[in-house]
Amino acid sequence: MGSDCVKELSLHILDIVQNSVKAGASEIEIAINEDIENNLLTISVNDNGCGMSKEFLSTVRDPFSTTRTTRKVGMGISLFEAAAVQCGGHLDIESEQGKGTKLSVCFEYDNIDRAPIGNMAETMVTIIMGEPNINYVYKHKKADKEFVFVADEVKAALDGVPLDTPEVLNWIRDFISEGLSDAGINM
Ligand SMILES: Nc1ncnc2c1ncn2[C@@H]1O[C@H](COP(=O)(O)OP(=O)(O)O)[C@@H](O)[C@H]1O
Ligand SMILES: [Mg+2]
Repeated sequence: MGSDCVKELSLHILDIVQNSVKAGASEIEIAINEDIENNLLTISVNDNGCGMSKEFLSTVRDPFSTTRTTRKVGMGISLFEAAAVQCGGHLDIESEQGKGTKLSVCFEYDNIDRAPIGNMAETMVTIIMGEPNINYVYKHKKADKEFVFVADEVKAALDGVPLDTPEVLNWIRDFISEGLSDAGINM
């Protein structure tokens, strides 16, 4: 078993969403689909950020492909892909410069090496804390059940209170974790 598979999938999601934030996205959609009937777990992150050129996109799975300057090796995408491949799945990326990026990863749902999804309520709070002004849409399906969180809907209800205040973040954490368990999506 590769050590990459030990990392909870939510930590990979955090890495991938941070790429979308750096790409200047104003809207980021995170979708998880637990398709048990077809033994598939699909995770996708779509953004309307700056996108990548065809040239860059063709090398982006390579760990040495990065535009970051603090270290020479970019890791987010290549580690997520490695985790998927080791668990019987794969990673796809589509990107268009000036339009955005769609990344999707699938795993064999019951693969013994597949890491757990992890704590998505906590992950969403961490994401929002890092950059509260983005409209995050989080959709989580399991069989015929679905939970949806839309950051802009929360913002509209808050009447100008920023999302990154402790009370609001605590409310969001509870809203997501209760929403998931009410929908029967136990994490
Ligand atoms: N959603 C995205 N939009 C635009 N560029 C992206 C996106 N995701 C990744 N990239 C580009 O691909 C590079 C590699 O990403 P990644 O594998 O996560 O490594 P790192 O973030 O450490 O550079 C990034 O540096 C960035 O240039
Ligand atoms: Mg990254």
